[in-house]
Amino acid sequence: MNQWDQFLSPYKQAVDELKIKLKGLRKQYEVEDNASPIEFVTGRVKPMTSIIDKANKRQISFDRLHEEMYDIAGLRLMCQFVDDIDIVVNLLRQRKDFRVVEERDYISNTKQSGYRSFHVIIEYPIETLSGEKKILAEIQIRTLAMNFWATIEHTLRYKYDGDYPPEIQHRLERAAEAAYLLDEEMSEIKEEIQEAQKYYSKKRAKKHNND
Ligand code: GTP
Ligand code: MG
Repeated sequence: MNQWDQFLSPYKQAVDELKIKLKGLRKQYEVEDNASPIEFVTGRVKPMTSIIDKANKRQISFDRLHEEMYDIAGLRLMCQFVDDIDIVVNLLRQRKDFRVVEERDYISNTKQSGYRSFHVIIEYPIETLSGEKKILAEIQIRTLAMNFWATIEHTLRYKYDGDYPPEIQHRLERAAEAAYLLDEEMSEIKEEIQEAQKYYSKKRAKKHNND
């Protein structure tokens, strides 16, 4: 194995384990016939080239990466409703298999860009041949609308290197506003939506049992 594979291997293991654990949360809600505050889960290990770029920009030396670059392992939890984010963050705070070391609330404090999400940095222990190793991971919790905006803005950011022409800048601001309003509207009819989802998932289960 080369040096990078060796460096990244605990992060890969952490992302794999955390994906299973966090997807497991959703399954538990399903089993109990309750609406899940988590809609879906994604995870990734930061690509080598992005790690190098960021390390250069922030002047982080290779041997400080483990302590200073907290988003090499990244997980994302998507929720239907803004309220769900609090529920999920509380679940994370209570877990015994990792420790929350930092929280960043970009929902109460929307970023200048229009970005909204709740970030939790955790310290997660993995078992290796040479014993326990604690690594940092970043969990981003956001609604589907926040995710839609962030995904599109991220793509554009690459294209323009963050330096948007005024027209695009304006559109992104309007889109952020629209995403915010969409979240507000959906919160207003949350009960209605969840009742309908329960009804349909029961119906599906019934059909499945009769098949
Ligand atoms: P980086 O932004 O990752 O270099 O680190 P940071 O130390 O500035 O942390 P911050 O909490 O600002 O951002 C962490 C992560 O949140 C980023 O890597 C992105 O995934 C996401 N993020 C933060 N700001 C924005 C934004 O303006 N647009 C989008 N699309 N994502 C953002
Ligand atoms: Mg940033």
